[in-house]
Amino acid sequence: MQTVVSGIRPTGDLHLGNYFGALRNFVKMQNDYNCYFFVADYHSLTTHPHPDHLQVNVRKILSQYIAAGLDPEKCTLYIQSDIPETAEFYMLMNMNAYIGELERVVVFKEKARQNPDNINAGLLTYAVLMACDILIQKADYVPVGKDQEQHLEMTCKYARRFNNIYGVEYFKEPKAFSFGKDLIKVPGLDGSGKMGKSDNNGIYLIDSDKDIRKKVMKAVTDSGPTEPNSEKPQVIQNLFTFMNLVSEKSTIEHFENAWNDCSIRYGDMKKQLAEDIIKTVAPIRERIQEIEKDTDYLDKVAKMGAEKAHIRATQTVQEVRQIFGFRPVHY
Ligand code: TRP
Repeated sequence: MQTVVSGIRPTGDLHLGNYFGALRNFVKMQNDYNCYFFVADYHSLTTHPHPDHLQVNVRKILSQYIAAGLDPEKCTLYIQSDIPETAEFYMLMNMNAYIGELERVVVFKEKARQNPDNINAGLLTYAVLMACDILIQKADYVPVGKDQEQHLEMTCKYARRFNNIYGVEYFKEPKAFSFGKDLIKVPGLDGSGKMGKSDNNGIYLIDSDKDIRKKVMKAVTDSGPTEPNSEKPQVIQNLFTFMNLVSEKSTIEHFENAWNDCSIRYGDMKKQLAEDIIKTVAPIRERIQEIEKDTDYLDKVAKMGAEKAHIRATQTVQEVRQIFGFRPVHY
């Protein structure tokens, strides 16, 4: 079975963009691939989270992942820092990463611009750590969004460079996993093209029914179509895109027709949309609340994940150490 690796930084609650964009696909993938899904808590250190928040946020992601359908029996669900071999691997790989290429990474440049007072070495070498997450499990595939494509290219570059420097055929280059027609970009409710945490335009998996209704009713619209069968402006298309994700076919058709004959009432459409979003979110939210309370269960999941993830990680790092020229350690 081929191996898939994906990580997510624990920076807050998951929203519908995460759910429809990746998580729902992960749930399907866990049946067909050997999946390693982890919470990238080392990566989150670049922004200096408070130690108490770190644990809270790691648990949030774990419980929200499980509530959304990831099954710790089917996939390997773990916390990045539970595999400290990653840190040794990262140190070694940093020796073959060049400052110039790291400074040219688009995500790095953006983050450095946004936080000029905190351009730390961890931020600069973010791509090296990510490469290590992927290579340590010998991933065949990495599901990546547009914003992470360059990081995956660097992973391939570091794999190739390692092989070249040491004259080995050790790492193979992981491929981007394409969701194909399942790749869905969830729009923001503020009229923007993408739902994201930083933009405050999201519906979260933990939102109450009331929150959801309020947010959907506030979604940006326009003054309505004036000509039959006209093209939809982006803000209206966004509402339809949302409906396509959560509503019944007949509902969508009803509002499509209403758009086309100019009888559409956005208030009605939003009311319906809110109820259909609630149908998706409410059961997940209820599971999150149950799982979050059960700290014993979460500890068990993390331990089981660490045990599984540890197996290949230890082996990779041992082999890499030897390729670098170290002798095996004996305690
Ligand atoms: N950089 C990714 C993000 O911000 C998270 C991540 C860390 C990751 N390590 C990874 C994703 C390895 C895929 C594979 O979204």
